[in-house]
Amino acid sequence: KRHLVSAADLTRDDALLILDTAEELAQLSGRAVKKLPTLRGRTVVNLFFEDSTRTKTSFEVAEKRLSADVINFSAKGSSVSKGESLKDTALTLQAMGADAVVIRHHASGAPARLAQSDWLRGSVINAGDGTHEHPTQALLDAFTMRRHLNPGNGRDLAGRRITIVGDVLHSRVARSNVHLLTTLGAEVTFVAPPTLMPIGIENWPCQVSYDLDAVLPKTDALMMLRVQRERMNAAFFPTEREYSRRYGMDGIRMAQLPEHAIVMHPGPMVRGMEITAEVADSPRCTVVEQVANGVSVRMAVLYLLLGGAVFADNAEPARTE
Ligand code: CP
Repeated sequence: KRHLVSAADLTRDDALLILDTAEELAQLSGRAVKKLPTLRGRTVVNLFFEDSTRTKTSFEVAEKRLSADVINFSAKGSSVSKGESLKDTALTLQAMGADAVVIRHHASGAPARLAQSDWLRGSVINAGDGTHEHPTQALLDAFTMRRHLNPGNGRDLAGRRITIVGDVLHSRVARSNVHLLTTLGAEVTFVAPPTLMPIGIENWPCQVSYDLDAVLPKTDALMMLRVQRERMNAAFFPTEREYSRRYGMDGIRMAQLPEHAIVMHPGPMVRGMEITAEVADSPRCTVVEQVANGVSVRMAVLYLLLGGAVFADNAEPARTE
């Protein structure tokens, strides 16, 4: 495969290869091998049309650990603000020799448009497009779940019960996760207010519930989602108090989870609305660990798309420096 646009495009073997590669890379980092020469001489452009803290930074760290030349492009401050199109932006980057473009865009489908076009010759990696998908987030989430829920080195997530709670309607994280987690054999349940559950959810490969308290005792990993006010008409904002009462995660609800269960959040968190500080700062909450895992997973994706035949053949990782 040349691009990573959607978690739905990943077969079970693809997903396991990325997760296993990320595990090997994480172990190298743990052994103080901070840099690999794999992408030396290759140029990766981080093309961000929407704000980001975690994804943008961790892609940059991942690219630098693989010795790529990194160009950070933010729509703010670029000629996009003067009306330049995605096509002309892509052609400009191609003219500068981009081998890969990591793109975040407010429009669902923008990364697919780039991947299908002849504007760029390199790989396209989706870093979040509108309400569509965020595949590397789902991969780092699966990586985190696998570490916590499969201590016996099981490779997939067969039979694990994952509950995803909150603004499913606007969540690209939920969409990528439902594809990837079911590909890996997990059972996914969405819990959301009826106004924040997508129309047609009955056709998704998941269970649906409106009762968080009933689902908690049957959950191995609980993923809280942010309410994305920036994608909503103000008339549809849920009130913070009502939302927290029915769908927020607090210490009382955390006690209803099985002892082994973890609490996840892709970030950014809105403390007080979907998650209390007591939960966010508890040892069961993996939000910071997810960020660290994101670097290994993004290294694996870049490695396999741009330089990865060596790894894909299960040989030793490239020479270290
Ligand atoms: N989880 C995530 O995508 O966070 P950022 O928006 O900060 O990149």
